[in-house]
Amino acid sequence: MENHDHIEYGTFEATLERSRQLERDIQENPSKHKMLTGDRPTGRLHVGHLFGSLQNRVRLHKLGVPTYIVIADYQVLTDRDTFENIAENVLQLTIDYIAAGIDPHDGKTFIFPHSHVPELNQLLLPFLTLVTNAELDRNPTVKEEISAAGLKRINAGMYTYPVHQAADILFCKGTVVPVGKDQLPHLELTRTIARRFNSRFAKDKAVFPEPQPLLSEAPIILGLDGSQKMSKSRNNAIMLSATEDETAKLIRKAKTDSERVITYDPENRPEVANLLMLAALSTGRNPEEIAAEIGDGGGGQLKKMVTEAINEHLKPLRARRKELEQDLDYVRSVLRAGVEAARAEAIKTLEEVREVMNMGL
Ligand code: TRP
Repeated sequence: MENHDHIEYGTFEATLERSRQLERDIQENPSKHKMLTGDRPTGRLHVGHLFGSLQNRVRLHKLGVPTYIVIADYQVLTDRDTFENIAENVLQLTIDYIAAGIDPHDGKTFIFPHSHVPELNQLLLPFLTLVTNAELDRNPTVKEEISAAGLKRINAGMYTYPVHQAADILFCKGTVVPVGKDQLPHLELTRTIARRFNSRFAKDKAVFPEPQPLLSEAPIILGLDGSQKMSKSRNNAIMLSATEDETAKLIRKAKTDSERVITYDPENRPEVANLLMLAALSTGRNPEEIAAEIGDGGGGQLKKMVTEAINEHLKPLRARRKELEQDLDYVRSVLRAGVEAARAEAIKTLEEVREVMNMGL
C-alpha cells in the first residue's frame, strides 16, 4: 500500500506540460473524455470568470466532450454563515452557463447541485478512510481559504470538502477537470484517492480512472481597480448580467495612470494593461495592436474602446441571459434533468463500489 501520509504534488511545470498533452488528445478524441467542472453558488459570474474559465469550458463542450457541471452548494457552508441566497445563486449560475454557450440538451451535458445526488455524497464515506488527517491539514488551498475568510472557528467541512470534491469528480468517472492553479491540490488529492481506492479494493480491475487537470492558460483578469483579481466581493467586477450602461459607468471609473500615450506594459502599467487585455479578449485581437491604435488618445479613448468591445462581445450572452431570467421554470427543468442523469450514474458507481468493498447484498 502506498504511504498514506504523503501526497505528491509534483512541479507546476510538469503539470502544465501534461495539461498541454491532454489538450492535444482532447482535440483528437473529444468523445473519449469526460469533463467534470464545478463552481460554488456564491453569486453571479463576472467577466473574469468568463475569460478565465467559462469560455474554456464552453470551448471543450463544443468540441463534443461530455460535460458534467457540479454546482457545489454544500461547499458554500465551509467558509460562510449565510445560506439565504443559495437557491437564487444556483439558478443564476445555471443561467450564466447556458447563456455562455453550454447546451444542456445535447444528450451528454448535465448541470446539477451536488446536494441533490445522494449516491454521490455517499462516496464521501469510503473516501474519507483513504486519507489521513495530516494530509487534509496540509492542503495549501484550504489553508489559504481559512486565512482569507479570517475564520476563527473552522468547521470540519472546511478540512474535508476536498474529499467531497473527489466524490464530485469520481462519481461519474470524470477524466478531465479544467481548473485554475488553486484547485491543483484538490485534483492531486482526487487522483490519490482514486489510486488508493483501486489498489486497496479493486486490484484486478480499477473502478476509478485518475482524472487529469486541464490548466486554463488565460491570463488572470484584474478588477477595474487594476490591483487585484476581479471579484464581486472586492467590488471591482463587471458582471455578465450588467447592462451596457452599467458596464460603461464601471469602466469610466476604472483606474488608469497619468501617461497619455497608451502602451501595453503589464509590469509597469498594470491598470492600463488590464483594460487592454479585456479589449483584446473581447475582440480576439492582441493588446499591443490595440494600444498602438489608441496611441496618444489617452485613458478616455482606451475606456471608450474597452466599453464598446466588452458590450459587443457580451451582447448575445446578455440577450440570452435576459430570456432565461424570464423563464426560471425552464432553468429549473434543466437542473432537474441534470440531477436525474447524475443520480443514475452515481447509483451505478456506488453499486460497483459496494461490490468491491464486500458490501454487496
Ligand atoms: N472548489 C471549487 C471552487 O471553489 C468548486 C468545485 C466543487 C469543483 N466541486 C468541484 C471544481 C469539482 C472542479 C471539480 O471553485
